[in-house]
Amino acid sequence: MTLRVGLIGFGTIGRVVGEAIRDGQAGHCELVGVLVRHPERLAGVSAGFAGVAFTSQAEAFLAQRPALVVEAAGQPALKQYTEQVLRAGADLFVLAVGAFTDQSFFDRVVALADQLGRRVILGSGGIAGIDWISSAAVGRLDRVTYTQRKPPHAWRHTPAEQQHPNIEQVTEPLLIFEGVARDSARLFPENTNISALVGLAGIGLDRTTVKLYADPTIPANVNEVTVEGELGTLRFEVRNAPSENPKTSRIIAPSVIKALRHLSGPLWVGA
Ligand SMILES: NC(=O)c1ccc[n+]([C@@H]2O[C@H](COP(=O)([O-])OP(=O)(O)OC[C@H]3O[C@@H](n4cnc5c(N)ncnc54)[C@H](OP(=O)(O)O)[C@@H]3O)[C@@H](O)[C@H]2O)c1
Repeated sequence: MTLRVGLIGFGTIGRVVGEAIRDGQAGHCELVGVLVRHPERLAGVSAGFAGVAFTSQAEAFLAQRPALVVEAAGQPALKQYTEQVLRAGADLFVLAVGAFTDQSFFDRVVALADQLGRRVILGSGGIAGIDWISSAAVGRLDRVTYTQRKPPHAWRHTPAEQQHPNIEQVTEPLLIFEGVARDSARLFPENTNISALVGLAGIGLDRTTVKLYADPTIPANVNEVTVEGELGTLRFEVRNAPSENPKTSRIIAPSVIKALRHLSGPLWVGA
């Protein structure tokens, strides 16, 4: 059976996912609609997607009857469209997971999906181990720590720069935040997708420790996760290859393509 897929967002991630669906690389999926704010800017691109509705109107997008809507547009778009998507009868695949650090939004979405019999799927995005962490969370988890190291320039225009005006001159790793995932989301909203996902998979946003470093010894972001619990321990490091968009690693679009293969095909490895 073919899974009818709608995409919110057609930027760095959405476009690669859309092309993979079109080219038969994303399992048994059919791309039926694309929702963006400025479809006119995609006029040249959309010509390569015959029969796919490119629109800025949520009603026109949902009229294409997607069974699954993939959000690849950011937290404001997620907050704007979630309820409408679920009420239209589609499941929702989320990348802007950081939006769920807003507890009342999270509670509303989960309750609505439950009431409507829909599913909200949080994509693994740029981090590994979410499967293991959520398995371990069935038992008792004692400690979960997510550490993110970024080159100093990557902390420009964040509270870290106000606290450390000479941050770009540091010569050794500088700890700029240590606290729980929910507070890191409030102070560093651009860094929340992975910490929120790790928090939601494990012991929650208020018990997951987050450490953020400005690290002059690395050329690109390094993500470290450690988990301790009654079912075992986990320690790993992920260094994602960058894309042309400095905020989005190359692995993100393939992480969605992998999920579409699982959701539409006969075999799901690692559920
Ligand atoms: N979970 C993770 O690990 C992870 C990692 C990286 C990124 N992300 C999330 O993925 C999002 C997209 O990343 P990207 O690199 O593809 O961004 P991008 O290249 O900037 O593309 C964003 C796309 O979303 C559309 N868009 C933005 N706001 C919208 C709205 N309100 N309604 C409809 N469409 C909207 C934009 O088109 P218009 O301008 O025409 O609207 C554009 O097509 C990020 O914002 C981030 O939240 C998650």
